[in-house]
Amino acid sequence: MRLITKLLIVAALCSTLTVFGSTSDADKAIYKRVDALMKKMTLQEKIGQLQQLTGRKSEITGPAGEKMNTAEFIRRGLCGSMLGVKTAKDVAYYQNIALNESRLGIPILFGYDIIHGCRIIFPENLGISSSWDIAAIEKSAQIAAREAASMGIAWTFSPMCDISTEPRWGRVSEGSGEDPYLGAKIAEAMVRGYQGDDLSDPNTILACVKHFAAYGAPQAGRDYHTVDMSRRMFRDRYLPPYRAAIKAGAATIMTSFNDFEGVPATGNKWLMRDLLRDELGFTGFIVTDWGATDEMRNHGVAANGKEAAKLAFDAHVNMNMVDADYIKYGEELVKEKQVSVKTIDLLCREVLAMKFRLGLFDEPHRYGGDRYKSETYLPENLEVARDVARKSMVLLENHNATLPLKGSERIALIGPFANNRKEMSGAWIGFCEHNRSTTYLEGLQARFGKDNVVCVEGCKPFSAIEGGIAEAVAAAQNADVVLLTMGLPNSCSGEATSLTSIEVPQAQRDLLDALDNTGKPIVVLLVTGRPMDVGYEVERADALLVTWHAGTMAGPALADVVSGDFNPAGRLTMTFPLNIGQVPIHYNMKRTGRPRRSLEHTQKYTSRYMFTPNEPRYAFGYGLSYTTFDYSDLRVLTPEVAMGESVRVSVKVRNSGKCDGTEVVQLYLRDDVASTTRPMRELKGFERVELRAGEERRIEFEITPEDMSFWTINEEFAQEPGSFHVWVGHDSNATLGGEFAVRK
Ligand code: GLC
Repeated sequence: MRLITKLLIVAALCSTLTVFGSTSDADKAIYKRVDALMKKMTLQEKIGQLQQLTGRKSEITGPAGEKMNTAEFIRRGLCGSMLGVKTAKDVAYYQNIALNESRLGIPILFGYDIIHGCRIIFPENLGISSSWDIAAIEKSAQIAAREAASMGIAWTFSPMCDISTEPRWGRVSEGSGEDPYLGAKIAEAMVRGYQGDDLSDPNTILACVKHFAAYGAPQAGRDYHTVDMSRRMFRDRYLPPYRAAIKAGAATIMTSFNDFEGVPATGNKWLMRDLLRDELGFTGFIVTDWGATDEMRNHGVAANGKEAAKLAFDAHVNMNMVDADYIKYGEELVKEKQVSVKTIDLLCREVLAMKFRLGLFDEPHRYGGDRYKSETYLPENLEVARDVARKSMVLLENHNATLPLKGSERIALIGPFANNRKEMSGAWIGFCEHNRSTTYLEGLQARFGKDNVVCVEGCKPFSAIEGGIAEAVAAAQNADVVLLTMGLPNSCSGEATSLTSIEVPQAQRDLLDALDNTGKPIVVLLVTGRPMDVGYEVERADALLVTWHAGTMAGPALADVVSGDFNPAGRLTMTFPLNIGQVPIHYNMKRTGRPRRSLEHTQKYTSRYMFTPNEPRYAFGYGLSYTTFDYSDLRVLTPEVAMGESVRVSVKVRNSGKCDGTEVVQLYLRDDVASTTRPMRELKGFERVELRAGEERRIEFEITPEDMSFWTINEEFAQEPGSFHVWVGHDSNATLGGEFAVRK
C-alpha cells in the first residue's frame, strides 16, 4: 500500500477516533461507566439493547411486522431503541416505562427519519443539494436537529448518502444527486449540522449514514432490487459520501436492503467489518434498515430468522430494526456457541456508549418534554427554510426573459400543485404539519396582491377534472402570464416509488396543450423529487423552473424567484435525460474505446445511439440566472508539480448581465492516462460567488493530491503521475480549460 494511502487511512482513523473512539478522556470516562453497567446486565438485557421497536402509534415505514407489546418488551429490558414515535408525550410515556419499570432503568434511544427538516420542512434533499450552498445545508440540518430534539428525538436516520444515476428510483429525492465529490461535501455538512461538535449538547442528535451500501444503484431503478458492481466502481463512485460522513464523525450507520456481491448488506462482513470498521475506522454503531435482518430469508441466504440473526451478528451489526430476530434468537445462538458473548458485549457496548454521550443516563428527559412549544417554527428558522428553498430552485428555460415577472401582470396560477397544501413537502415528512406550509398561491398573492393572482386547479396530478381545462383556459385568457404547476405528488417521491416513465402525467399535458392554445406566455413550475423527461413541456412553455417539493416555505420562496427579488442560482445535481432510453446517464461517464468525438461525429462504429444524441437535455451543474456570467483568463498557476503537491488554478468570472446574481463556479478534472479507465471529467471544486452586475472577480481553486487520487490498479486509493486536463465553468460542459502535469 502506497504511503499516501496509509497516511489517508491513518488520518481517517485518527479523526474518527478523536470523536467516537477510546482515545479522548471524555470517552474513556464514558466507557468506564458503560463497562460498570454491563457488569450488572444479563445476556438477555444486553441483547435487548440491540433491539429497536416501533410504538403503538408509530408511523410505519415498512412492511408491518408482527404486532408487539412494546411496553412489555421495554419492561423486560428487551427494547433499547424505538423509532417512529411521533410526540414528545409518547416519548416520555415509553421513557418512563424504561426508567421506572425495567430492572436497570436503561433509557431508550428514540430515532426518526428527520430527512429534510422536522416541523419546518426544507426542500427534499435533491432540491437542497441543487443550492450547492454547503453552509445553508449544514444550517438546515442544525435546525432540523434542534426541532427533533425538542420533540424527544435523539437520533435521525439521515444523511442519506446514496449516490444515484437512476431517475426511475424514487429515493433519488432523498439524496444529493449523481456526483461523489458534491455528495461527500453535503454528507459531511449534514453530519456537522446534526451532531455539532458535542453530542452532550441537548440541541444535537445522532446522525445516521444510510443506506450502506450502494443502495442507489438498484437494477432498472427498481427499489430494493439487486445491486451488482465492481468494488472499483463502488469505491470510486459510491463510497465517497459514506466515507466523508464517517470522517466527519457520524455516530451511526444504517445497512441497506440490497445485496452487494451477492451478500445482503446486513450480513455482509466485507462491507460492515473489513471496509467500514477496519479500513474506514468507523467506531459508532450500525442499525439495520427496517426488517433487513429477517429479509435475508427472502434474499435466500438464511433459512430462518435464527440464521438471519447469526449473519447480522457475525457482520457486527449492532442493532436490529423491528423484526426482532435478535431478541428472539440471540440467547439461543449464544448458548449454541454460534455467537459469542464477546460479540454481544462488543455490540452492546457501542450502543450504551452512544446513550451516555447523548447524556440520556444523566438526564433521560433532556430530549422532548415541552421544549417543542418554544423551539419549533422559530421565525428565524422559517426564514432559513425560505432562503434554502429559493436557492434550491433551478431555472432551466427562460425564453424572451419571461421571468422575472414585471410585477404589474395579471397572473393565472394553474395546476394540481398551485394551491395544494399537502403537496408542498415531498416524502419523509412525519412531523410536518401541513397547515403550517405556505402554498404557491399564498406566496404569490402576498407578493403580487390578491387581486393580481387567480388560481385554478385545472386537473389532478393523474386525472382530469370535469370542466377543469375550460376553467383554466378562461383564467389564462384574462391574465397576462400563466404559471403552470406540473409534476409529481409527494406520493411519487421517496421509498417504494420507482417509475418506468419519468414524464409528466398525461392529464397535466392535456391541460398544458389547452393553455398553449391561448397564446399566453407560460411558465412551467416543475414540482418533483426526481429528474424528469420534460421535452413535451419545453416545446410549449416559455420558461421552466424546477421548484422541487420545496417545503414549508415553498410559497414565499417561489414568489421571491419569479418576482426577481431573488435571482435563481440553483444548479442541477442530477442529469435530466432527453428520454428514459438514455438512463442511466450522468456527466462523469467513462470515455470508452470508441468515443463519439463530437456532436457532429457520425462515424458509425462509435459509442452512440442511432437516433438520439448522447447528450442529456440538461447536464449536471446546469441552471440559468436572470443575468449572465462570462469566464476568461483561466490560469494553471502550477503547470507541473511533484506527487503529493497541490495544483492551483484561477479564472476570471464576470457578471456580464444587468442584475446582481450568484454563480456556482465549477471545476472539473480529467486524468488523461491512468492505470484504470477514468471518467471523462469529474467535479473537484466549486464556489458560489455573488457578483454585482458588471462585477468581475478572479476565483482560485486548489486541486489536492486527494482530489487526483482514485482506486488504482494496485487496489489502493492513490495519486498517479501524468497529465491532467482541467476546466472551469458554468456546468459540467465547461469549455474553458488548461492542463498540468504531475511528475513521477
Ligand atoms: C425505511 C427506509 C429507511 C428509514 C427506515 C426507518 O424502510 O429504508 O431509509 O430510515 O425504514 O423509517
